[in-house]
This record gives sequence, structure tokens and C-alpha cells, in this order.
Amino acid sequence: MYARDKILAMLNSDPHEQEALFAKAQSVRNSVVGDGVYLRGLIEYSNVCRKNCLYCGIRQGNESVERYTLTREQVLEASQFAYENRYGSVVLQGGELTSHQHIATIESLVAEIKSMSNNELGITLSFGEQTLDTYQRWFAAGAHRYLLRVESSNKALFRSIHPNDKLHSYDDRLEALHNLRRAGFQLGTGVMIGLPGQTVENLADDLLFLRELDIDMCGMGPYVECANTPLANVKQSHDLRWRLEMSLKMIATLRIIMPDINIAATTALQAIDPQGRLRAIGAGANIVMPNVSPSEFRGSYALYNNKPLSIDSTINECSVRYAEWGDSPHFRKDSK
Ligand code: 5AD
Ligand code: SF4
Repeated sequence: MYARDKILAMLNSDPHEQEALFAKAQSVRNSVVGDGVYLRGLIEYSNVCRKNCLYCGIRQGNESVERYTLTREQVLEASQFAYENRYGSVVLQGGELTSHQHIATIESLVAEIKSMSNNELGITLSFGEQTLDTYQRWFAAGAHRYLLRVESSNKALFRSIHPNDKLHSYDDRLEALHNLRRAGFQLGTGVMIGLPGQTVENLADDLLFLRELDIDMCGMGPYVECANTPLANVKQSHDLRWRLEMSLKMIATLRIIMPDINIAATTALQAIDPQGRLRAIGAGANIVMPNVSPSEFRGSYALYNNKPLSIDSTINECSVRYAEWGDSPHFRKDSK
């Protein structure tokens, strides 16, 4: 069991030591979960959101965003594309909404994607904080993984990047994470790296938090300023290069301390460096989420500046495990 000081030392690796850290993380990944990369076709269902996170481009208060919600047909078409191209799974993601209508729509979309694909496509959902009952309904409909980032496990930092109101509560976020587990989901969470005011110690504590929560999957990446958001106007603590390198060290360190989980090479890495996702795979990640949303809407799902729009070339450069769910062995171990 790696203690906090060991974790901090890994995160503080200098550029030379960093190569050894990445090599170690790769070898841990290869021996524990294999050297293959699993694909999740990402469907950005809707950019309508009731929240106002200070860092996010599609926050409710951003009036410069053209709002859209995909139709049932568009979602099924994107899923069909993923299925035909032998992606093992899709991720259905969107802003946080809690209306009965929304909950029922997601529920029926999940069921339809399952039946359209002969139950073969795995489904991950990412629709923010919901009640236990909603999570249970979506799980019963056929989704089996859920992504809900904690953004920062440090309560003060969490508060500093969210409005100070009831809708944006750290405690509610933690409760939602526990409810996801109770509902039966494989649990994915993660943090943003390089936030204003965030220290390397905070990031080490984030990794301890992920281990303590015993997650099955992680998606984390650099914070990237987004135009028209409040957080872009505050003084930044770390330049983009630092955030990218620190993100890679976070991925490598997480792989070393939680060898059997799934770790995504996230899109935000690529917003800083065209090689970002590939480098993440070189640092121990094993999941890539190519965007399969209809192309006319991709520009409207701009969470941060310079977000890549196209299906990336990353997948041409690694050994892809086609048509497999690629569940984390960590979850199977838990459920025995
Ligand atoms: N920079 C990086 N990641 C961001 N996200 C939202 N806004 C930004 C940003 N400016 C991430 C959050 C959220 C996920 C959907 O996108 O971590 O959970
Ligand atoms: Fe909504 Fe998620 Fe953006 Fe927050 S981060 S405003 S919950 S889409």
C-alpha cells in the first residue's frame, strides 16, 4: 500500500524521473489489465444543464451557447455507428437535468440501445447527480457504469470552483457517488488537474480519495480555461504545460496505486497537446472515448477552449480491443 509521501514523490517526479514513472505504470497496466485499449463511443446527448459550475463552458448562465438535445433517432444512429465499428461500449453524457421527462427519456434510450445491439453494447451514463431511485431505474434499464467526477476531493477547493448555493454541494456529490454504488453501477469518478489554487498535495489527496472510495474507473485531466466562464478570469496557478505533465503523472501514479481499474485518456489532454491522449496511454491509461455524436452538434458541447471535435487518430496508434466491454477487473473482484 503506497503511503501519501510515496504518492507525493511520484507526483513531484522531475522530467527525467517522470519517464521511469511512466514506464513503471505501463508495465503495471500491461501485466494487470493487459496492453489493449478499450473504446467507448462518446455520445454528447445534450448541453442543457441546470448547474453553473464556474469552470464549465455549458454552464446554465453561459448565454453564448446554442443549446441542443439530440433526438432519439440521433442517439440510436450514433450508437449504431459505435456498434458497427465494434466499439465495445457507448457513453451517453449530458448536462444535469432532473425532470421526470428527462429521467424517463434516458431510461428508454438505454433500453433501446441495448435491444438495438442484441445486448452487446455496454452502456456508461454520465448525467450528474440524481436520486438513488433514478440511478436504480437507469441501472435496471441496462446501463452498468456511471461517471460522476468529484472535480476536487478538497471541500474548500470544490467550493471555490462552484457557486456557493444548495445546487452545488460537495456533500451531495459524495452522497451521489455512494448511491451509484448502491444502485449497482461500476463507479467512475475523477478530478481536474491544475485548478487555480490547487497544490500537488491536494492532488495527492485526490488520489488517496479515489483509492479510499474504491473506484472502478477514473477519468481525470487538465483544467483548461473556457471563454465566457467566471473561472477563466481569475489568476491561474499553473500553466498549461504544467497541467498536462501533472495530469500524466496523476494517471501513472493512479495506475501504480490502483493497478486493476480502468483509466481514461481524456479529451482535455488533447486540447493542450495533439499527442495528449497517446501520452496518457503511455502513462498507464487503457480507455479512449472517441466522439461519435453527430458532427453538427460537436461545436456546441465546448466545455473548454480548444476541445477537439473529431474522432481522434489516437486509436490508430494503439492496440485496440474491439467489441469488448472491457469492464475493470476491479469490479469483478468486488462483486465476488
Ligand atoms: N476544463 C477541463 N475539464 C472540464 N470539465 C468541465 N469544464 C472543464 C474545463 N474548463 C470537465 C468536468 C466535468 C466533465 C464533464 O468535463 O470535470 O465533470
Ligand atoms: Fe453542468 Fe457538468 Fe458543466 Fe457543471 S460541469 S455546468 S454539471 S455540464
